[in-house]
Amino acid sequence: MQSPVPQGEDRAYLDFVLGLKQHFARAAFPELRRQYEQRLAEMPATTSADLAEVVADLPAYPLFQWLERNPQKMMWRRLEAMIAPHAAELEDALNVAVEHAAGRLELDPGLKLPAYYAETEFHIQPGGVWPAAANAFIYEVGAKIVMMGENDDYQFHRLFVENAVPPRAYRAILDLGCGFGKSTRPFVDAFPQADVVGIDLSAPNLKLAHQQAERLGKRITFSQRAAESTGYPADSYDLVTATMLIHEVPMPVLRQIFAEAWRVLRPGGSLVILDFAHTGDAFRDFIMDGHGARNNEPYMPQLFRTDVPRLLQDTRFDHPEVLPFDERGPGIRADGTWPKRSEWHFPWVVIRAERSH
Ligand SMILES: C[S@@+](CC[C@H](N)C(=O)[O-])C[C@H]1O[C@@H](n2cnc3c(N)ncnc32)[C@H](O)[C@@H]1O
Repeated sequence: MQSPVPQGEDRAYLDFVLGLKQHFARAAFPELRRQYEQRLAEMPATTSADLAEVVADLPAYPLFQWLERNPQKMMWRRLEAMIAPHAAELEDALNVAVEHAAGRLELDPGLKLPAYYAETEFHIQPGGVWPAAANAFIYEVGAKIVMMGENDDYQFHRLFVENAVPPRAYRAILDLGCGFGKSTRPFVDAFPQADVVGIDLSAPNLKLAHQQAERLGKRITFSQRAAESTGYPADSYDLVTATMLIHEVPMPVLRQIFAEAWRVLRPGGSLVILDFAHTGDAFRDFIMDGHGARNNEPYMPQLFRTDVPRLLQDTRFDHPEVLPFDERGPGIRADGTWPKRSEWHFPWVVIRAERSH
C-alpha cells in the first residue's frame, strides 16, 4: 500500500505550506539574525546582553515564531482532512498480510505505550504517530514537507548509513524507533549480509514499514517493542542505531535506552545515532530551544543540555563521540566543524560509541 499522493487543491495548499516553511528558513531566520547582530552591535559594550530578552524585542521575532509553528499546524490539518475520508480503507489495507514476504512483521497488542509517548503530540502531529493507520500515512507524507523538500528521496538517511556507520561485516543490526522504516531500509543496501531489524512502539507505522520494505524488496523484520526494554537476548546485535529517536524521550528513558543498547550489543559492537544537538552558536542554539517549544518537542531542550558522551560512559559505553553532520554535504566533515549556512536548518549530529567488552 502506498501513501495517498496530494493532488489538486490539496497539492496546491501543501505547496503553499512548503513555501511558507522555506520562507521561514531562508528569509525569516537570516533576517532575525541580522537584526540580532545589529542590536548587539548597537548596545553599549558594558551591557551584558540577555539573549532571550534581546531576541524577544526584535521586530522580526513575532513573524518568525508564527512561521515556525503555524505552517506546521496547517500541514497536519490539511493532511488529516485529505486522509480522513480514506481512513477505513487504509486501515484495511495495512491489515492485509504481505504474501511471500522476505521479512517479518511482529506486533504485540499487549504492549503498553509509555505515558510520555501516548500523551504527547510530537512535532504537533494531531494524535501522534500511533493510534491508527491514518496517523502513519499522515506521518509519511508530512515527513517530507517537514524537511522542506530537502529529503524527499531520504538521501539524508542514506548518507548517514554510508558515511557515519563504521563499514564492518555486521551480522545483526537493530534500528530503534524505526517509524515507517525510512531509517532502516538503507542498512539493507549497505550491509546486505546482515539481519536487519527495526523496532517501534507504533503498530500502524510498523505495518506501513513492513509493506513498504516488501514492496521495495528489502528483507527487514519490523517488531513492536520499546527501545528502552526490547526483550532481545543480551549480546545479540553488532550494531544498534537510532535516527531522530533520542530527542523524543525523557531523560530517564534515554538512560534506559543507552543501557539497553549496551546490553543487546555484542562485545565489539557499535552504537551509532543520528539526531540533533546544540552547535555552540548561541543565537542558533537559542532558536533551536524555541523550536522545541514551538514544534512540540518537549524533551529536545533537555537533550541539548545533556553531556551525551558522559551519559554513554555512565551506561558502560567506550569511546563516545559527537560529530556535526552536514546532511547536504559530505556527512561528517573532515575538520569536524558545523556546516555554515545562512538559512535555518536542523543541527544534525552523529553520536557514536563502542561496547568494548
Ligand atoms: C521522529 S520518528 C523517527 C522515525 C525513523 N527513525 C526515521 O528516521 O524516519 C521517532 C520514532 O520513534 C518512535 N519511538 C518513540 N519513542 C520510542 C520508544 N521508547 N521505543 C520505540 N520507539 C519509539 C516513534 O513511534 C517514532 O516512530
